[in-house]
Amino acid sequence: MNSSQIYGDAMSTGLLKPFNLGGMSLANRMVMAPLTRCRAAQGAISGSWAATYYAQRASVGLIISEATIISPYAIGFSGVPGLYNQAQIEGWKVVTQAVHQAQGHIYAQLWHAGRASHPDFQPGATAPVAPSPIPISGTIRTPDGRQPYVTPRALATEEVPGIVEEYRQAALNALYAGFDGVEIHAANGYLIDQFLRDGSNRRDDIYGGSVPNRLRFLLEIVEAISTVVEPARIGVRVSPAGAFNDMRDSDPQLLFDAVAGSLAGRGLAYLHVIERFREQADAPFNFVRIKRLFDGVYIANGEYTLEIAQDALTQQRADLISFGRLMIANADLVERFRLKAELNMPDESTFYTGGSHGYIDYPELEG
Ligand SMILES: Cc1cc2nc3c(=O)[nH]c(=O)nc-3n(C[C@H](O)[C@H](O)[C@H](O)COP(=O)(O)O)c2cc1C
Repeated sequence: MNSSQIYGDAMSTGLLKPFNLGGMSLANRMVMAPLTRCRAAQGAISGSWAATYYAQRASVGLIISEATIISPYAIGFSGVPGLYNQAQIEGWKVVTQAVHQAQGHIYAQLWHAGRASHPDFQPGATAPVAPSPIPISGTIRTPDGRQPYVTPRALATEEVPGIVEEYRQAALNALYAGFDGVEIHAANGYLIDQFLRDGSNRRDDIYGGSVPNRLRFLLEIVEAISTVVEPARIGVRVSPAGAFNDMRDSDPQLLFDAVAGSLAGRGLAYLHVIERFREQADAPFNFVRIKRLFDGVYIANGEYTLEIAQDALTQQRADLISFGRLMIANADLVERFRLKAELNMPDESTFYTGGSHGYIDYPELEG
């Protein structure tokens, strides 16, 4: 008897069944969520360790890379990789080749931190940019310890197309680096999310005010990237219920209904939705509604276990499920789910510390 006969439920509910994503044949419906690990040097992913880390995890249908900055000004933490110069492209090539050799697929997550940064990270020690001069409350971890967030500099209307262009170029660089596609990081209170929500966007130009105006930056990025990457290889990640990084909106359901509806009909690869993680807004959010409005592949994320993932697929609340912390601790999560084996627990103390420990040395399943 083979394992699929023994563990028929995992197979029949589909988590381990193949899936066609934009013409790419995924081995299963499991996705590795983007996970910042702060182990790059000068913006270049450290070839061999990162290649090992990602290749170890290539049995999921799709890997989404850690957040990768589109320009030197997009940075929000130490040790994050970029996709705006040749050294960074070369570093990523080693990773994408290793993943492809292991029969996996990998998208690059394109990131701009916006106000969730600090002058100590910025070229010329300037203030980070944002839609409006509203700082995040609290402190940010910098190389000199925790410091208060500063008031960001509001982007002038004429500057916005320059940032859109940086997204386009980074997407093109992702293709040069061998990625199968790109994910636009519009979640977790970073620059695009800052434009979307009226708690951080108080602009009175074409990028602020009404919902269509706040959506404009994201849609311009989608359109610019679509000129270099086929839409079927472009995903978008959002966190409609997230309050992390001081995210607030007067009507998140209205806003994200509009986001989902505006992204529909463009032939995009997927909408990737963080349904719960860290700080959450108080009001309940209707995710089924945005899945219906998007009307394409919906990747669900946030505290999913095997059982919850199976339920979501059976009830057609999601098409694919992404796993974050479980993928950090279990490179062989697909096999562990197949066998219903025990899982390693993630060690939070090594999430962002650098070094190979807690990165490529979690124990494999025995036997
Ligand atoms: C260490 C760590 C790093 C993360 N880095 C990113 C990131 O780079 N980009 C992103 O969109 N989300 C990031 N997230 C959020 C995860 O992708 C995911 O949404 C979150 O962990 C919830 O999923 P889980 O419950 O399966 O872990 C990170 C989370 C953790 C724990």
